[in-house]
Amino acid sequence: MAGAPATPVPARSGTRKVYVKSYGCQMNAYDAQRMADTLAAEGYAEAAAPEDADLVILNTCNIREKATEKVYSELGRLRVMKAEAARAGRSLTVAVAGCVAQAEGAEIVRRAPSVDLVVGSQNYHRLPALLARAKDGAVVDTEFPAEDRFDRLAPVRARGVSAFLTVQEGCDKFCTFCVVPYTRGAELSRPAAKIVAEAAALVAGGAREIVLLGQNVNAYHGDGPDGRAWTLGRLLERLAAIPGLARLRYTTSHPRDVDDSLLAAHRDLDCLMPQLHLPVQSGADRILAAMNRKHTRADYLKIVGKLRAARPDMAFTSDFIVGFPGETEAEFRDTLALVDEVGFCDSFSFKYSPRPGTPAAERGDQLSEAEKSERLARLQQAIVRHQKAFNASCVGRTLPVLFDKPGRHPGQTVGRSPYLQPVHVTSPLARIGAVMDVVITETSGNGLFGTMAMTNASPERILETQTT
Ligand code: SAH
Ligand code: SF4
Ligand code: F3S
Repeated sequence: MAGAPATPVPARSGTRKVYVKSYGCQMNAYDAQRMADTLAAEGYAEAAAPEDADLVILNTCNIREKATEKVYSELGRLRVMKAEAARAGRSLTVAVAGCVAQAEGAEIVRRAPSVDLVVGSQNYHRLPALLARAKDGAVVDTEFPAEDRFDRLAPVRARGVSAFLTVQEGCDKFCTFCVVPYTRGAELSRPAAKIVAEAAALVAGGAREIVLLGQNVNAYHGDGPDGRAWTLGRLLERLAAIPGLARLRYTTSHPRDVDDSLLAAHRDLDCLMPQLHLPVQSGADRILAAMNRKHTRADYLKIVGKLRAARPDMAFTSDFIVGFPGETEAEFRDTLALVDEVGFCDSFSFKYSPRPGTPAAERGDQLSEAEKSERLARLQQAIVRHQKAFNASCVGRTLPVLFDKPGRHPGQTVGRSPYLQPVHVTSPLARIGAVMDVVITETSGNGLFGTMAMTNASPERILETQTT
C-alpha cells in the first residue's frame, strides 16, 4: 500500500554508488532503506539508476512465482550491464537480498553466475563485511544469526512525512500457500524501548506518520520497559504519546491476533488511523481450513464487527487468493459474498501461485490458469465496485489530510485521508507535513479531489503560507 518516498542518500566520503531495487512488501522497502543507510555510513552514495552504480542490490520477493521470475530476468539484464562496465574498465558488484536470496541461496549463483553476493533477510548488518569478502569470489550468507540485526544496522533516518518502522518479523502461522515462514523465519518482536526510540528519532527527523510493520504485526509481544511483554495495543498507546507524531498505522495484521488491547487502542487513540489491512484470503470455511488460516468466515466477521464497535468509521482492506487448490465455484462465490458483506474500501487479490516447499503446492487438485484468471477478474470487479462506492461516500465530507508530496500538476499537493485514500488539492494553503481539513469534491479511479476547508483559511494561515 503506501510507500515512503525515497530520497537520495548523501555521500559522506568516497565516490562509490549503490542502487537498491526493492520488490515485494513494505518490510522489504524498510529493509532497503536500512541497507542504504548502512552503506551510506561506508561511503556509498545512492545512484539514480543501476547504470550509474558500482553496486546493485536486488531486494527480492518470493511470494508468487511471477515475483521470483522477475528477479532472474533482472539478473539477466545486470549480467549484460556488468560485462559492459568491465569493457569500460569499471566494476559492477551485483548482490541479491530479500526473500528469494533467503529461499534459494547458492542456487542463485548457480543460475546467475554474475551474482557476487547473496545475502539473506537477517544479515543486512553484515553487508559491508560481506561485500569486502565478495571481492575474492561469490559469497552466500543466508544463516539466521543469533544477534539482533536491528542493533547492528546504521541508525535510522527519516525520509519523508510517512515512515516505516519494522516492529516484528517472521511468522509462525504456516498458511499452507505461503513462503514467508520459511523466508523470514520464526516470529520475533523487537523490544518496545528500541521501537519507541526509533519512532522518536523518525519524528525528530521530520516524520509525521509512522507505519509499524510486521509480517504478523498484531502478534507483536516485545519486551516492555516494565519487564512485561507488551502487546501491539500497548505499544501503540505509548507511541501515541510522542510529541509531534500526528498519525499511526500498522500492517499487516492477522485476524487471529486482534486482541482487546488493540480494540482499546482503536477506541481511545485519535492518532491511530481508522483503516485496517486485515487479510481474509477466502470467504469459504473449507478453503480457510485447507489454507490453515486458523479463522473461519464467522470469526472474521465477528472481528470486523468488534473493530467497528470500537471505531465506527473503521475502513477495511484485505488480501484475497482465488483458485486455491480444490476451490469450487460455490466456494468462490462465498468469497464474493463476503466482499459484499464487509464492503472493503480497497483490496489486493491474487491468483493462487504454487510455491515450492509449501503444502498446498503438493496437492493434486490444482485449478487451471484459465479458471483462476476468470475468478480473479470477477473478484476484482467486486472489489472495485466497493472501492468506488466507498470513495463516492466521501464526497461532500470534510476529511483531515496529511499532505506528503507535490502532485503531478502545477500547484497541486497530494496527501492521504485517514482511510489511506490519496487526496489531491490545488491550493497554496496546502502544506507538506501538515494535517489539514479538506472538503472532498470529487473522486476518480482510486483517488479523491478536494478543496481546502474554510477552517484552514484563517488570516494567520494565509499569512503563514505567503511568508514561507
Ligand atoms: N502476513 C500477511 C501476508 C503476507 S503475504 C498475512 O498473513 O496476511 C501477502 C499476501 O500475498 C497474502 O496475504 C496472500 O494474499 C498473498 N499470497 C501469499 N502467498 C501466496 C501464493 N502462494 N499465491 C498467491 N498469493 C499469495
Ligand atoms: Fe504467510 Fe499466513 Fe504467515 Fe501471513 S500469516 S505471512 S499469509 S503464513
Ligand atoms: Fe515478498 Fe518476502 Fe515480503 S516474500 S511479500 S518480500 S516477506
